[in-house]
Amino acid sequence: MALALLTALLLAPVSAWPSGQIRVIAAGVSRTSTQSLSLALTRLGYKTLHAEGFHPKIPLYKEAPELVDMVTKAALKSLQAEDFNVLLPVLAHIERLNVTALVDIPWSAYGVELHEKYPNAKIILTVRDKHSWFQSYWEHFRWGAILPPPPFPSFPITQPFPLTVLYQPFVQYWRLVSQRLQCTAITSFPPRMLSRKDKQDCLDGFEMHIERLKNAVPLESLLIYNIREGWDPLCRFLGVPVPDFPFPREDSYSMIHWKVGPVIFLVVVYLFYGLVLLLLHFILTFQLRKLWRQKRD
Ligand SMILES: *[C@@H]1O[C@H](CO)[C@@H](O)[C@H](O)[C@H]1NC(C)=O
Repeated sequence: MALALLTALLLAPVSAWPSGQIRVIAAGVSRTSTQSLSLALTRLGYKTLHAEGFHPKIPLYKEAPELVDMVTKAALKSLQAEDFNVLLPVLAHIERLNVTALVDIPWSAYGVELHEKYPNAKIILTVRDKHSWFQSYWEHFRWGAILPPPPFPSFPITQPFPLTVLYQPFVQYWRLVSQRLQCTAITSFPPRMLSRKDKQDCLDGFEMHIERLKNAVPLESLLIYNIREGWDPLCRFLGVPVPDFPFPREDSYSMIHWKVGPVIFLVVVYLFYGLVLLLLHFILTFQLRKLWRQKRD
């Protein structure tokens, strides 16, 4: 009887959980297959928020498009002030949306704080070989270096997602996230070649991130997970049955976006700034000439 009850409880569908409860926090840094994990969690029935909410394949993207802007701005403030509490109103909003799983930045930057806030939530720490992680992180986040930091002006673009790379607060947010991983050089403006030390700092940051979570989260609440292991360890950890469909793999989105897009972004960005500077130049020289003539006459 007790066993049957236990089994029933263990196999209870995810939707039976009380609403507004964060059950899973994926605290692995960006470029550790967080997109695949988001899709896997979604398929397991979790209402998943991936990063700021931009991923088009995750249903929440359509349900709550306001999240991208809301989360980005709050994350920027909270990382700047190094104050997790800045995110609390946004988390309340996310809970009202009945989200049950948080994945990727800014959440991964706050794995320890989120564990304190939601002590019953399970923490999934996605990992991979650190050198391949570094390569992937650099390819992805180096585009955060295309905009000069404030007070340089910015395009007021927050949507659709790929164009957010032209949006200063978003780029600043990337810089701050990278700073926390000691990957400052990747997003510094103007873009530059990385030294061995830059790379080593970043690799150390990656390892420190893992250590920090290992030290803060009890073993039974923490899964250190390589996505290549597939459903088994994930489902065992979450206490849900292994589904009979294949584990979702997702990286094509970022491939298309990041390998073709940046060239266009760069051209657009610098064309825009170039035109503004040219205009300023003409206005200034025109005014100066006028002044000079007035003086001469
Ligand atoms: C959240 O869950 C509650 C209770 O099931 C439901 O009444 C509410 O409509 C849900 N809200 C959203 C935004 O899904």
